[in-house]
Amino acid sequence: PPALGSLRQRLAAAFQQSLDAAFPSMAGEPAIVNPCNNPKFGDYQCNNAMGLHGKLKGQPDAPKNPRAVAEALVAHLPETGMVAETSLAGPGFINIRISPDWLASHLTTMLRQGISTWAPAGYAGRRVVVDFSSPNVAKEMHVGHLRSTIIGDTLAHTLEFCGADVLRLNHIGDWGTQFGMLIQYIAEKRPEGLNAASDEDVQDLQVLYRAAKQRFDEEEAFKQRAREAVTELQGGRPEYLQACAWQRICDASRREFQKIYDRLGVQLQERGESFYNPMLKPVVDDLMQRGIAEESDGAKCVFVEGAQIPLIVQKSDGGFGYASTDMAAVKHRIETEKADWIIYVTDMGQSSHFDLVGGGGRGHGGGGGGGDGKKFRSRSGDVVRLVELLDEAKQRIVDTVKERRPDATPEEIEEMAAAMGYGAVKYADLKNHRTTNYKFSYDDMLSQQGNTAVYQLYAHARIASIVRKSGRDVSELAKTARVVLGHEKEVALALQIARFSDAVDECLAELLPHRITEYLYDLSTAFNQFYTECQVVGSPEEDSRLLLCEATALTMRTCFQLLGIQVLYRI
Ligand code: ARG
Repeated sequence: PPALGSLRQRLAAAFQQSLDAAFPSMAGEPAIVNPCNNPKFGDYQCNNAMGLHGKLKGQPDAPKNPRAVAEALVAHLPETGMVAETSLAGPGFINIRISPDWLASHLTTMLRQGISTWAPAGYAGRRVVVDFSSPNVAKEMHVGHLRSTIIGDTLAHTLEFCGADVLRLNHIGDWGTQFGMLIQYIAEKRPEGLNAASDEDVQDLQVLYRAAKQRFDEEEAFKQRAREAVTELQGGRPEYLQACAWQRICDASRREFQKIYDRLGVQLQERGESFYNPMLKPVVDDLMQRGIAEESDGAKCVFVEGAQIPLIVQKSDGGFGYASTDMAAVKHRIETEKADWIIYVTDMGQSSHFDLVGGGGRGHGGGGGGGDGKKFRSRSGDVVRLVELLDEAKQRIVDTVKERRPDATPEEIEEMAAAMGYGAVKYADLKNHRTTNYKFSYDDMLSQQGNTAVYQLYAHARIASIVRKSGRDVSELAKTARVVLGHEKEVALALQIARFSDAVDECLAELLPHRITEYLYDLSTAFNQFYTECQVVGSPEEDSRLLLCEATALTMRTCFQLLGIQVLYRI
């Protein structure tokens, strides 16, 4: 069945109908429904009355005050069954209480038809390119790239959940000036020439990079030869490509990057800068022809309104750079990939570049933070450090796992430690607002208390075990039994479960993955409060309460799936 939208979207649709009916002259004015700030007064709130009152002023029969507008909105509300009661507050806020009966059947239906029926509306069928991870070959993969990988993967999963057609692109820096230096260095080290280049030369890219960089910085003549090498590479001189110096360097880097992606379980399609090389000249020519780019000091530039600096699409020496590639990439993604939406997940340091490219200034990830609160310095060797960082997180949880599950086989321990360790790193990143730097601390992220992956995985496993130990088959149960909400903690839990769709919508509307982790934390809390007060197994309400447990666990699992965290059932 097609998604009917999140709770907030459904309420907003109801209020839209009432607004259009009550005030035809204002039809189309968007209805605004938000969660209520204070749950004592309501679950949601409609805030249109004040604005509408202002806009209606002077019209014949204009309501005399915002409260009168609010009353008219309530009077015209269509019968959806969703709203149990409304109340007016302040100058004209409409507080809305969701009907427990509606919630009960909303959950029952979801358990029968699947949680994908809860996807927010507005994303299905949209073609979305997510450009993320995107490290640079032979240079460095730093914490910024790790954050981009984790955040981008979550955004992609969330879009996919909502039915979007997602293309995950790894815009690898495989074409920059660093290659001239590297290729030239290898060529000169090997008197037989480039054809003799072998994997040995690229075995340790960090060593190669450092040595080449040192020569580049110290020897003016070498610097010149390295620059010429780039031009030749970009012109496609076959030796450079076929002699595999370039190819070999890229392969070696790719193998390193893959170690990270394997651990994190991230799928990405590589489409590096080199892919766009044949398109650069035509794109720049087109920009010149259309008068979008102009010549300035020998370079071809786009002067973007309001920007301090121009976007240089072709340098004065005729070379193309990072900006030219991104212009070509935007064109390719829109025209060939038919993207409706392009999301870039990169370090904040690049926001001005993307403002200039104009292809999507939204969605910049924040920088990463070191344990001392300072930004991790980018340096070669970081891939190794990133792999170690991930493995260390996994290693540190092994003892806990063994203690809790002395019966577990080595394979099970490995699986649990990987889920918790890698999950912890992801969660610690995702739970922060993406534009803030945060302190990286193993102790914090691996804690069994508080808002961590380890806590959430335990919480889920506990619910799974309640269901398992009941000895009932809940999927069979869901076909016949219904959720019934009597106890106030049952109602609160059901509402929190149903708010999953709001969290997903907020995550995508603002590209903020921490909306999902915040939601998950509130869900665990609501479950704990329910479980403290409501007996499940052996109570007269057993059937309905088991369904509530299952709905909670299913929703948690779906959150894990969006966050890229491996789910565990027994820990
Ligand atoms: N390689 C770049 C970096 O390491 C990130 C690329 C982001 N994507 C893009 N289309 N420019 O900073």
